[in-house]
Amino acid sequence: MAVTIKSEREIELMRESCRILAQVHEQLGEAIKPGISTWDIDALGEKLIRSYGCIPNFLNYNGYPASICVSVNDEVVHGIPSRERILVEGDIVSLDAGLIYKGYHSDAARTYPVGKVSKDAAALIEVTRQSFFEGIKYARAGNHLYDISNAIDAYCSSFGYGVVRDLVGHGIGTSLHEEPQIPNFKQWRRGIKLRPGMTLAIEPMINMGGCDVEWLEDDWTVVTQDGSLSAHYENTVLITEGAPEILTLLPDQK
Ligand code: CO
Repeated sequence: MAVTIKSEREIELMRESCRILAQVHEQLGEAIKPGISTWDIDALGEKLIRSYGCIPNFLNYNGYPASICVSVNDEVVHGIPSRERILVEGDIVSLDAGLIYKGYHSDAARTYPVGKVSKDAAALIEVTRQSFFEGIKYARAGNHLYDISNAIDAYCSSFGYGVVRDLVGHGIGTSLHEEPQIPNFKQWRRGIKLRPGMTLAIEPMINMGGCDVEWLEDDWTVVTQDGSLSAHYENTVLITEGAPEILTLLPDQK
């Protein structure tokens, strides 16, 4: 399927889908404390999504068994919630969530500190978040995809972090994953030209150590090969005639 350009009506539906997801993330973030299990985070997330009359889009996606991906410490993405996995002070936890509202998908991720974390862990979370904003400076009509990828990579690499290469961002709309793929690492090909009406999930996954990752036996959980910490930050954004609209951030969120 080709890259889709959303109509004004579709953009309104995307906005609403994403606004609801931003609220879900806000409420999930407030629940992150030492002692909560990753299972309870997922249960809360599913309950919140359904309370807004929406459908969790990750649940059963290619067999994924939960609504929220909860990835702790060296887990990069797609951690599977478990009653046995209890968060403890000093952990960092990435929550990746998505939902469907009237047929339109939203997708966003945040990494949180659990209680007080090391300076290094806090810096990784902040640089990962900031790298998204470095990337979307270039998310403008007329630019090419690689302008975003290269900005994210340059920023994270300047801190000595590893930019994950095996997983990428993506277009989003009536499917969770649409074209194009959006790498977070240095590209030599320009990729497509950005046009108003494109909706893109831009999602840097950044390791404190090397960029290499591997899959656990569950076939879902992606971990860093060197055991270093990893952070994830993702928003669904709309390309416009001017500055991009970050659809999964509420006005007071950063
Ligand atoms: Co995504």
